[in-house]
Amino acid sequence: MDFYTSVLGLLVSDRVPDIIAFMRSPFGGDHHILGVAKSSHTGLHHVSFEVGDLDEIEIGAQALLAAGYKDGFGLGRHGPGSNYFHYIRDPWNSLVEYFWDIDVIPEGAEWTPSGGEPDEFAAVLTALWSHAPAPEEFILNYEEPD
Ligand SMILES: [Fe+2]
Repeated sequence: MDFYTSVLGLLVSDRVPDIIAFMRSPFGGDHHILGVAKSSHTGLHHVSFEVGDLDEIEIGAQALLAAGYKDGFGLGRHGPGSNYFHYIRDPWNSLVEYFWDIDVIPEGAEWTPSGGEPDEFAAVLTALWSHAPAPEEFILNYEEPD
C-alpha cells in the first residue's frame, strides 16, 4: 500500500488495517482500481472486467460456466465499492470477475476511508449479500511461493 500511494499517488478508499486496502486514482473515478491483501506470498487473486449491467454479469458468468469453468463466487454485491460481482475460476485457480455499478469518488471529494472499525467493515468486506456464502477457498492464494 505504501508503494502505490507514495510512488504512484493512489489514494486509499477503504481498508482493514494489516489485511486489505482498496485504492483509487487521485484524479477521481472508480472506488478502487487496485486492491492489495496480506498473504503468505505474492500472487494474483483476481482481475476484473466491467460490464454494462447486471444481465451482462450473468450472461458472461453463465457462458463461462457452460464452457466448463469452475464457479468462484457470486452473484453478489460487494461492501467496498458496492459493485455487483460474479467470479469464475481461471485454469490456474485465479479468479476472473465481472462487475457493474461500482461507486465513483470524484476528484477532490471529501472521503474518509473506512477501516477505523475493522470488525464492522470486515463484516461486509466480502459481500453485502450474495447468492450463496463465499466459499472458504475464495481468499486462498493459489500462486506457488517464490
Ligand atoms: Fe474486484
